[in-house]
Parts: sequence; C-alpha cells; structure tokens
Amino acid sequence: MRSFISLGFLAAATARTVSPHSDDSGLPAYRNPQLCIDERVDDLLSRMSLEEKAGQMFHSRTSLVNNTFDGKIKDLVSGKHITHYVFSGGVNDARVVAEWQNELQQYALDSGLGIPITLSSDPQHGWTDDTAVSNLGSAFSRWTEPMGIAALRSPELARTFAEIAREEYVSVGIRQALHPQVDLLTEPRWGRSGGTLGEDANLTSTLLVELIKGFQGEKIGPHSVIATTKHFPGGGPMENGEDSHFPWGKNQTYPGNNQAYHLIPFAAAIAAGTRQMMPYYSRPIGTEWEEVAFGFNKYLITDLLKKQMGFEGIVVSDWGIITDRAWGLEEATELERMRRAIEAGCDILGGETKPELIVELVNEGLLSIERVDSSVRKLLKEKYELGLFDNPFVDVEAAVRVVGNQYFSRIGNETQRRALTLLTNDDDFLPLPYEARESKFYVEGIADSVMERRGLTVVETPEEADYAFLRLVSPFKPTTAGGLASSINNGSIEYNVTEKARQAEIYKQLPTVVDITLNRPAAVPEIADAASALFVNYGSSPDAFLDVVFGIDGWGPEGKLPFDLPRSMAAAEASFEDVPFDTEDPLFKFGHGLRYAEKCGGKYKCR
Ligand SMILES: *[C@@H]1O[C@H](CO)[C@@H](O)[C@H](O)[C@H]1NC(C)=O
Ligand SMILES: *[C@@H]1O[C@H](CO)[C@@H](O)[C@H](O)[C@H]1NC(C)=O
Ligand SMILES: *[C@@H]1O[C@H](CO)[C@@H](O)[C@H](O)[C@H]1NC(C)=O
Ligand SMILES: *[C@@H]1O[C@H](CO)[C@@H](O)[C@H](O)[C@H]1NC(C)=O
Ligand SMILES: *[C@@H]1O[C@H](CO)[C@@H](O)[C@H](O)[C@H]1NC(C)=O
Ligand SMILES: *[C@@H]1O[C@H](CO)[C@@H](O)[C@H](O)[C@H]1NC(C)=O
Repeated sequence: MRSFISLGFLAAATARTVSPHSDDSGLPAYRNPQLCIDERVDDLLSRMSLEEKAGQMFHSRTSLVNNTFDGKIKDLVSGKHITHYVFSGGVNDARVVAEWQNELQQYALDSGLGIPITLSSDPQHGWTDDTAVSNLGSAFSRWTEPMGIAALRSPELARTFAEIAREEYVSVGIRQALHPQVDLLTEPRWGRSGGTLGEDANLTSTLLVELIKGFQGEKIGPHSVIATTKHFPGGGPMENGEDSHFPWGKNQTYPGNNQAYHLIPFAAAIAAGTRQMMPYYSRPIGTEWEEVAFGFNKYLITDLLKKQMGFEGIVVSDWGIITDRAWGLEEATELERMRRAIEAGCDILGGETKPELIVELVNEGLLSIERVDSSVRKLLKEKYELGLFDNPFVDVEAAVRVVGNQYFSRIGNETQRRALTLLTNDDDFLPLPYEARESKFYVEGIADSVMERRGLTVVETPEEADYAFLRLVSPFKPTTAGGLASSINNGSIEYNVTEKARQAEIYKQLPTVVDITLNRPAAVPEIADAASALFVNYGSSPDAFLDVVFGIDGWGPEGKLPFDLPRSMAAAEASFEDVPFDTEDPLFKFGHGLRYAEKCGGKYKCR
C-alpha cells in the first residue's frame, strides 16, 4: 500500500544530488526535502495513526545477533512502530555495524510510513580489558572513562574527545549519545562514579558544555550526535551510597539541604543546548518533593526543569521505569505508571516496548491526543534535523576508515597515559631508571605477555622479584546478584582485613608501585604509607601504566583528583550524601596529583 516510500526516498536522493531545485512535487510533503521541517512534521503527523504515534514514544534496546538483526526488532519496527533504539553490545567491527544499520534503516523505510530509526549508545570509549563483561566498543578509539578527562582539567580535551567520539558514532549510524553523565560525586560510596566528571559543580559544568557542543555541533544537523544529559536533578546523593537501579537503593536523600548544588550542571547543560535530558530512577526522600521516582515527578520535570530552568528539549525516562523500576509507584498498574510518566513530562520511555498502554490511555480519555502530539512532534523534528529522513544510510567504507583510525586512537592512548594520577612517590621513586628494565618483576593485574613483549622479566613470587607492580581495582563487596550489580559496586570502600594483610606482606618485602582503577573512590591510607608509589586511574591500559612508570618517551602523570579521596569508610558514612568535600580529614584532596617534573633531565626524556 505504501510502496511509494522507497521510490520516494530514491527520488529525494536524486533530487539532492542532481539539482536542489528540481521538482519534488510528486513526493508526499513529509518526504520532500524542499519543504521546511515544520511543514514536513505537520504532514507526517496528519498521516499517522494513534498506534504509529504511540510507537514513537518508546526507546528500546537492540543488538547484533550473529552479525545481523534479529526477528525481535523487525516486530518492534513494523508491528509496534518503534523507531528509537539503543545499540547495546559495543561496536567491535565497524563494517559489520555499518552494514547492519543500513539493513535496519532499509527495513524501517519499507515499513509503514518509512520513519527512519534513531540509534543511540551508552558510552563506548572507555578502556577495559575485561572482554567478558565489557560493553565497550573495541573498534573505537580507546580513552579513559570521562573521569580521566576531568582529571586533566582540560575543556579543550573534552571538546576533542566529544568530536572524535561523534565522528566514530556517526560513521556507523549512532546518532544519539546516552550521555554525558553530569551527576556530582558528593557521595563517595556510590558505584556509578566513573562516568561522571567528579565532585565539583563548576568543573563538571565547564567540561559538560564542551562535551555537548562536541557531540551536537553548534547546530543540530546531519553530522550531529544528540547529547542526553543525565541524570536530572543529579543522581549523586544516593542514600548510603547504594544505587537506584536496584531495589535496595531506591532512595535519594539531601541531609545537607543541598539540592541547588546538584542542579548547577543541568543549568549549564540547558544553556549549552542539550537536546535530551534523562531523569534518574531514584525517589527523593525527606524533601518537599513528592516521594516518587524522578521520571514520575511532575514538579521536578514540568515545573522545575521545563518551566523554571527553561528546558525545551526531549525528556527520556531512564530504562524500564514502567515494567521494572517504578520506585514510589510499585503498587500502581503499568497503565497508571505510564500515565504518571507522561503527565510528569516524559516525552519518550526508555527500555520499554508497550505503545499499547498509550493507545489505551488515549482511548479511555486518560491522556489527550494533543499531549501525545506534542511529544511526537519533538521526536520527529529531531529525526528531520539529524537528516535521517533525507538519508538514513551510512557509507560503509568510510566507517571502516574513520572508526579507530590512527589519529583518534593515538589521542585516546595519550589521554590514558596523561590522566594517570600520582598520589605518592617516595623520594622520587618514579620514574624507574632505565637500568631497572633489567630487573625481575612481580606483577598483579598485568598480563605476563604485556611485560614480556617489552622484554621485562616476570617472576612468580614477590620473594624472587626486585620490584612489584600491583594494578588493583577499587574495593567493593563481592556479589552473587549478577547482572548490573557486578559492575555498579557497593560495600566498603576499604579493602577487607585479609586483603590488607596480603598486600602488606608484599609492601614489606620489596618496592611496590600500586595503581588502582577507581570504579569509585577508595580509602587506602595503608597503601599510601607502605607502597613506594601510588597511582589511581580511570580506565587505562597496562601499556599506558608501564610507559608512565618507566617514563618511556617522556610520558608522566598529569592527572589531578576530580574528587576528595576519603580516609576511611567510616568517614564516608559520616558525611552527607548531598554535600561535596565533607568527609573528615580526606586522605587526598580534590586537585592533588604529583608530576615527575623534578627528574626532568635525568634518566628519561623530557616532554
Ligand atoms: C548464531 O549462530 C550459531 C551458529 O550458526 C547458532 O548456533 C545460534 O543459534 C545462532 N544464534 C542465534 C541467536 O540465532
Ligand atoms: C570554575 O572553573 C573555571 C574553569 O575550570 C575557572 O576558571 C573558574 O575560576 C572557576 N570558578 C569558580 C567559582 O570556582
Ligand atoms: C527508603 O526510604 C523509605 C522512607 O523513608 C524507607 O521506608 C526505606 O526503608 C528506605 N530504603 C529503601 C531501600 O527503600
Ligand atoms: C593505542 O594503544 C593500543 C593498545 O592499547 C594499540 O594497540 C594501538 O596500536 C595504539 N594506537 C596507536 C595509534 O598508537
Ligand atoms: C549491596 O549489594 C547487594 C547485592 O550485590 C545487596 O544485596 C545489598 O543489599 C547491598 N547493600 C549492602 C550494604 O550490602
Ligand atoms: C576480601 O577481599 C578479597 C579481595 O578483594 C576477596 O577476594 C575476598 O572474598 C574478601 N573476603 C571477604 C571475607 O569478604
């Protein structure tokens, strides 16, 4: 019935390449690139059934299954009219993903009105070598977590990072970033720190502006990636440092009455033009705010975010608030939760696939069609601005050239080295002298093969070694809960008694360099005392670590802590969840970070 769509697309493409003024009058208005966007949106809306409109209000999940797209997404596209998807799984092969996205867009073009797909992504540019649970795109250039960019205090680097990530995303068809994450890390126990920009509202605001502009460009167009700023109104103040993905962490609290501090980055994001905004799962407890999750909270989304703060973009709920994490509305039906989310001001529901609920709400007179239209209009307009209606396809060969190219990869690699943050360095212990390369090394957290590739000798026990290198992960309570609970950590931020004793034996025996990957802040005074040097990192390769330890090619640490490191778990527990820089007598303060500068001219090349 609507087979003219594919031909229409071809005609539009030809018209663009041949002459911008050729006659497109044979096309329906919404397909006609000669018309202005508002006119095209009006035309499209007038052709859409309620079911088709409802489908636009869902942002679901998809991934590659055996390098192709699965039957499930076909049902969602043609059966439920859903056209927004987060690509989960990581871009590990640019060609495969680019070809897959083109097939998916062709399928969408041939379905119904032919509305193009918007593909989004969670962050994929961090560094990890844990391929078993990694969600990172191994084909992309590899950086640190955003925290590493905060450690370098560089707005220019934030812009460069976002522009490079944008180029890589766009080349394979990813047009929306489900980031930046601008929650303030005022609660050190919270397990989602790595994706934030630290504890300070001003530093976070300065950097997020560059991230948003780098992703979106000055104006949204065919080369833009939509920025989704999260998590309104700041997800940092988690009660007891738990996380609201989980039933044991529903609550957010403000014992210091510090709500306003957490809003500072969001005001900056609105001024920078962020197109989308995501409220967090948490429900606020003990404030004047209603004790329902932020996505259901009309005061916060409509009155505060939209009316007072002036946000005119799209509000996307966090994933699964209707069928799974409906904190504060656990007893309500899915239909009622849906009504509350839309009434609160959400335009699109993340991680859900139930447009039939919206259809039911409208048919029962519980939701007006005007309200549906106002969200769908914004969502369609965004697709037009991104140029997806005029060309949803990517150039596969270009994607292969762009993704992970030498230049992008080099800047990412450099950032991994520079962001290393040196907290202690006894008597200028580092960088190790050139001769040290002939020594014997005991290593943890570095594959023997990485050492051997550099001609370094690895031994089995500390007793046989001259130096020890320990690359640790920040302390956490082991869990059997599985899923997200294994990556969003909780429990003590100190190592347990057994682990402290085990490490102490090593420090006693030989000079040791420790590097802790901070999934969240760690309280490690015993390591600061006993190790010869202590680094922290925010995701970096063992090669980055070794280059810095030996000062290879002049590499040295440049990071400064983007948060305070507490002295103990007790100090973290005694501090207020919502107040920055308030743990008692922190071990290291925001901004601490040593350099090698004094040794310049000595055993390694200066930069
Ligand atoms: C993927 O391919 C393998 C090998 O052909 C097959 O065994 C498996 O069932 C496929 N998986 C899915 C989800 O289709
Ligand atoms: C905020 O940060 C910017 C850039 O990092 C700095 O120049 C400015 O002085 C800071 N302002 C305050 C109030 O701390
Ligand atoms: C959250 O706060 C409510 C109300 O104060 C309380 O009953 C509940 O135990 C708290 N914790 C969780 C995990 O819900
Ligand atoms: C970046 O580092 C990785 C190892 O982590 C290496 O494989 C890659 O070649 C490096 N890229 C460049 C351009 O040096
Ligand atoms: C930490 O997470 C586990 C699941 O991994 C959960 O059972 C527990 O309630 C959480 N809180 C504490 C303090 O252990
Ligand atoms: C102590 O920490 C170590 C290493 O983090 C862990 O393997 C071990 O299970 C922990 N022991 C207890 C009793 O929690």
